[in-house]
Amino acid sequence: MDIYIDSASINKIGKWLDMGVIDGVTTNPSIMFADGVYDAEAGARKIAALINPRPLSVEVTTNDLDKMLEQARIFHTWAPNIVVKIPQETQDGLPCYSVIRQLEKDDIRVNATAALSLGQVILAAKAGASYISIFVGRLADEGGNVPEVIRHAAEWLEHWHYKSKIIIGSIRSVADILTSAVNYAHIITIPPQFLEKMSDHKYTRDTVRQFTNDAAKAMEMMMEKVKVH
Ligand code: E4P
Repeated sequence: MDIYIDSASINKIGKWLDMGVIDGVTTNPSIMFADGVYDAEAGARKIAALINPRPLSVEVTTNDLDKMLEQARIFHTWAPNIVVKIPQETQDGLPCYSVIRQLEKDDIRVNATAALSLGQVILAAKAGASYISIFVGRLADEGGNVPEVIRHAAEWLEHWHYKSKIIIGSIRSVADILTSAVNYAHIITIPPQFLEKMSDHKYTRDTVRQFTNDAAKAMEMMMEKVKVH
């Protein structure tokens, strides 16, 4: 299973990259905006260079299918490790599978994003998407059965030998991460604040504090003994 970081912050990406725990990066226009990346091209080029050869997902920003193709082809020129995020459908409900199919035919890797159902996962896999992002936080908001959707998607893709990898996004808690992991998500994209929470446990801190204190006390005793002799 791979872990991606769901962020456009170069500092946070660099921090977790140095720790050796992230295999890629996902962004979307809202994440870029929230992280102060207003120039998408400059920001994407910088992140892509930092994480190369790991993949960076960058999302199209139009509801017009021809313009999606145009944007995707431009994104692809920015760096070889850029994967283009194409939504399952436009905001008005027009399916985008033809765009996914064409880009994959042209050797441009696609992350078919904003999947909220198993049906969408199946169609995106048929269209040839390299990655399919299932938004579990948003799925749970609507009362969806998150573990079931993830597990069914993973099992269906494996059973029929589709190349598509599931990326679980829209993470709202560490519990979401663990639920995704045990239900065989191929990839989980985690916002930095949950990587922090996932790595921390109060009892681990207390344990390390105890060991450090006892080591210091042992050192003091040793020094005392040296003085006596
Ligand atoms: C990742 O690929 C998604 O764009 C992101 O996780 C969406 O998260 P949200 O539902 O919190 O906006």
